[in-house]
Amino acid sequence: MKLLEYKGDELHFDGIPIRQIEARYGTPTYLYSARVIKGCFREYKESFGTQPNLICYAVKANSNLSILNLLAKMGSGFDIVSGGELKRVLKAGGDPKKIVFSGIGKNVDEIKAALNVGIYCFNVESHSELQRLISICQEIGKKAQVSVRVNPDVDAKTHPYISTGLKENKFGVPWNDVMAIYKEASASRYISVIGIDCHIGSQMIDPLPFIDAAKRITSLSNDLKNIGIQITHLDFGGGLGISYQGETPPSPKNWVESVLSVVDNKEMKILIEPGRSIAGPAGILLTKVEYIKKGDVKNFLIVDAAMNDLARPALYNSYHEIKEVKINIGADLLDYEVVGPICETGDFLAKNRSLATREGEILAIMEAGAYGMSMASNYNSRGRPAEVLIDSGDHHLIRRRENVEDLYSHEPFPCP
Ligand code: LLP
Repeated sequence: MKLLEYKGDELHFDGIPIRQIEARYGTPTYLYSARVIKGCFREYKESFGTQPNLICYAVKANSNLSILNLLAKMGSGFDIVSGGELKRVLKAGGDPKKIVFSGIGKNVDEIKAALNVGIYCFNVESHSELQRLISICQEIGKKAQVSVRVNPDVDAKTHPYISTGLKENKFGVPWNDVMAIYKEASASRYISVIGIDCHIGSQMIDPLPFIDAAKRITSLSNDLKNIGIQITHLDFGGGLGISYQGETPPSPKNWVESVLSVVDNKEMKILIEPGRSIAGPAGILLTKVEYIKKGDVKNFLIVDAAMNDLARPALYNSYHEIKEVKINIGADLLDYEVVGPICETGDFLAKNRSLATREGEILAIMEAGAYGMSMASNYNSRGRPAEVLIDSGDHHLIRRRENVEDLYSHEPFPCP
């Protein structure tokens, strides 16, 4: 079954008429397919064949508890970047022994919480972080498993989409300092060095940079072995892109196969941290046309979703395809800028789109499952959207729409 399909004049999502979802839950609403999430996870898993592996879904892409639970039940591990994400994963039934903790700014409380539940690995991103980790382990009497996130300095000129694996980026330990930090870590009795980690960027379409980085990481593991540091896993991070506007990224299977082609050790456990490629294609955002405003130079489609619900267009000028939920309604095909109600010129969801729609009609914004709801805010005192999951033909509300009382419930008032 195709995820999105017109049957008659109505767009269906995973077999269900979108109108039905809108009538039940309103708009704006994020709508996800469990089938697509599970299918993608399975494809990643099966691509490893007999190579030991752990897929650590990047929680930041979409951190809804029901989605985390779905992945946990399939045996997924998790890549977290905060104490909040740690709690979410545990609440959703994730196994702490399959959690890796990335991020350059882990605070004391976050490190303690992760040590106390016994996570699998800290992806250490600096010398200062290593020192902090050692002193906390000493204080609470725990030993931490560690992988150093290295910055492989992959050339941006040839691979312009890489934004986190370059010298000038804030992430990872600079390549020239890597051996020293490994020596220091392995000398501490509070640390068990178990891996090497890297993550070179996101929404990557060309597999070559991954392969370059994988080669550097693999050769580093040999250098470490030569000085007596035996690691048991290589973590290649996330970053596989998806098709927003006709891009043709490798499939998860092809991506895993090309990475594995540079790993010479068949016993080595391989970790990956995919986020977008698992959640992105599985979700759409439904929004209602509030007003059509015809200007002198442009037509505006004013919809009820805004940059607070889906920040990607405003933040990165990123493209999300938009489809009319009902077609052949006799409306003129016009060129529109699709904008939200927020008081910012940057509040747009799409520019230069030909759409045939009317006030009151519903639009579906594609590929919104990753970095959509997880980046939503309450700007303009707007409650964040509802989230609905389609699983085996049924729809489930997995997050209710926020109301304004939710928003000001954190503000003691009158001022005590
Ligand atoms: N691992 C680490 C350490 C990361 O920083 C990230 C993403 C991932 C894994 C997952 O990468 P993915 O497979 O999703 O590409 N807000 C941006 C994306 C930021 C990605 C940040 N790091 C967007 O909406 O495009």
